[in-house]
Amino acid sequence: MSDNHSVAKSLELYERAGERIPGWVQLISRRAERFARGVSPLYIERSKGARFVDVDGKEYIDWTRALGAIILGYADPVVDAAVKEQIDKGSLHSMNSGLEIELADELADTIPSCEMVRYTKGGGEACAVAARLARGTTDRDIILFCGYHGWHDWYQSANYLVDPDSGEYPFAGIEPIGVPRALAGTAVPFSYGDLDMLGRLFSEHQGQVAAIMMEPARSEPPEPGYLEGVKEMAHRNGALLIFDEVSCGWRESLGGMQKVFNVIPDMTVVAKGISNGYPMGAVVGSREAMEEGRLMFVSSSYWSDNVGLAASLACIRELKRRHSETVLKEKGIATAKAVDAAVASSGLSGACQGFPTTPGLVFDLPEGADAAKVQTLFIQEMAKRGVHGYTGFGPTHATTDEDIAITADAVEATCRVIKEGLENDSIDDLLTADTRSEPFRRIVR
Ligand SMILES: Cc1ncc(COP(=O)(O)O)c(C=O)c1O
Repeated sequence: MSDNHSVAKSLELYERAGERIPGWVQLISRRAERFARGVSPLYIERSKGARFVDVDGKEYIDWTRALGAIILGYADPVVDAAVKEQIDKGSLHSMNSGLEIELADELADTIPSCEMVRYTKGGGEACAVAARLARGTTDRDIILFCGYHGWHDWYQSANYLVDPDSGEYPFAGIEPIGVPRALAGTAVPFSYGDLDMLGRLFSEHQGQVAAIMMEPARSEPPEPGYLEGVKEMAHRNGALLIFDEVSCGWRESLGGMQKVFNVIPDMTVVAKGISNGYPMGAVVGSREAMEEGRLMFVSSSYWSDNVGLAASLACIRELKRRHSETVLKEKGIATAKAVDAAVASSGLSGACQGFPTTPGLVFDLPEGADAAKVQTLFIQEMAKRGVHGYTGFGPTHATTDEDIAITADAVEATCRVIKEGLENDSIDDLLTADTRSEPFRRIVR
């Protein structure tokens, strides 16, 4: 454990950011309060493989993977070589690049629901495109949704339907400031797993629902028959089914969760793992669901950018060449095993849960324990020991046995601190960081 842990430069930059950048950061999940504020690094100098070096010069093993956007590892040599080659040929031409069609063919070979493709530069943007296509194709306005789908008005308007502090729907504590009130009621949330609720919403909005947009699964598999039921209900009511696989796609299966559970939606949104960190997103789907898009105004200058296309082609081909599904599962299982053993050896109760490629540590805390404080203490103590993240331990292809072993040692030492804190009722004394807050929650397991 490093005894000269400091994030002084990070904190100084964050302070300056507050003066220039409203909200400090570009993605809420990167805010200081999401980690152990005062102990977790906030600014990074460089990243490579499974690690980064922060602006204070300390190296960390990183389990956040740029919030899921990195799948092969930071600065992957193959993807980066393809990007550099493309930069020399031109990042953006004044007319189209054949790469658009080459990538569309690759996606069609990979994702079961894919016959046609549109590109974007990110996940939320791709969700907005999917919503537009669904509304335009069905000539209906309402989208029933479950899960997180980005920052755009179509989606954030849902918070007008609920008490922002209820914690029940996605954005507890975040008000839809700046979102037109006129959109209230056009995007309606439903709870994952609850087919009856979905049925009630279809009855309430008969003939008005354009689509269901949902994350098909996030950390746990659905109940048998659930996704099939959702699809059947959508089609029976003349609505399209859209799977948002921005976060759950690529890891368990290159074809997405739709391939794992064999439920094929009408459209799918992908991003993040598609390009190993280069800006890229895509909406893919059946000809029937997508081809009327030609009549709609769905258009943006940088959607033709060649860097994202080249990165995606290289990334998807590398994932296939490196037998990604098998490798990530093996690494995930090895990580979960090491983390579980470390927790057990500390005497604390808890274990990893979730899909093999994205294990997440869940503590079994004694009654009365403050889970948010314990989680902050976990993040704080791990950061001091050079491991950055929350309690998720999803590997990338670059995660090594050494990374896993160092992480497990840090988990064991951290859990010992937590155990002592719980036993002596001294968690508050052990916390040097502010308790983390969860600015929004996802309504999907
Ligand atoms: C399921 C899902 N959809 C959409 C998004 C938004 O993607 P982006 O942040 O690239 O706009 C995310 C991001 O976390 C996501 O997890």
